[in-house]
Amino acid sequence: MAEAPKTEAPKKLSIFDLQAKVAKGEKIFQVTAVDYPTAQLVDRAGIDCILVGDSVGMTALGYSSTVPVTMDEMIHHAKAISRAVKRAIVVGDLPLGAFHASTADAIDNSMRMVKEGGTDVVKLEGGEDFAPMAEAVVKAGLPVMAHIGLTPQLMSKLGGFKVQGKDATAGAQLLRDAIAMEDAGCFAIVLEAIPDRVAQIITERLEIPTIGIGAGPHCDGQNLVLHDMVGLFDRFTPKFVKKYANCWDVISKALADFQEDVRKGEFPKAEHSFIMKEDEYQALLKHIAKDK
Ligand code: KIV
Repeated sequence: MAEAPKTEAPKKLSIFDLQAKVAKGEKIFQVTAVDYPTAQLVDRAGIDCILVGDSVGMTALGYSSTVPVTMDEMIHHAKAISRAVKRAIVVGDLPLGAFHASTADAIDNSMRMVKEGGTDVVKLEGGEDFAPMAEAVVKAGLPVMAHIGLTPQLMSKLGGFKVQGKDATAGAQLLRDAIAMEDAGCFAIVLEAIPDRVAQIITERLEIPTIGIGAGPHCDGQNLVLHDMVGLFDRFTPKFVKKYANCWDVISKALADFQEDVRKGEFPKAEHSFIMKEDEYQALLKHIAKDK
């Protein structure tokens, strides 16, 4: 008998593969997923890093910002995503409050993210002020992705969802933040909502890869949130998002069509029903008549 063709399991990526991609002049792709099926889609599409982002609070949990998201909520989603992923690096975002008070909190919650959530690495939002936390986690043995610029967890301090680093002083501070995070041992850094030239300067200055989201084309990689890019988030669309599909409309139409079909008796049809054989049916009728 002919042997069934072997389908090779995809090779799991590591943080070193990201640096290798950049060295070859290739771009890094990172996408935020929220659950098992979206993580499967993202992984099978060949995306390098799947972010279990705290944006899940807005895209999947209905919060108005990422501020209320807890460690337990992040771990719940991280578990589902980690179960789905075969190839990509799974990045677990530490939510507000998980690392801000101390290096001990940063280590404990990073360990929880990796041990319970099953992620490969963690990400934390913040610049220079949080470099000691990033450094402590790296020294404890876990790779850390940094995130500077618009850090939505601190949006009250930043004055809302606003572009950061627009003037020379703020741009220079962003460069200091990026250097502090690289010196802390982070393996990559997300640059969110900053001018393209500031991102270019940071990308040229750092050894570690930069992954932009609203930071222009000069970064080593690009990040989008899946719900934004496929049109599954209806509250607002940031300027930096390109919508590659409109799943909201596709799903809305499916739901309207379902109701219409049921009303018109066009669903379910024989192919969606379990049809009883005629003789069994006649036997059933007799049985019921006898029981009366
Ligand atoms: O939570 C998230 O999805 C993020 C990205 C926007 C980088 O942090």
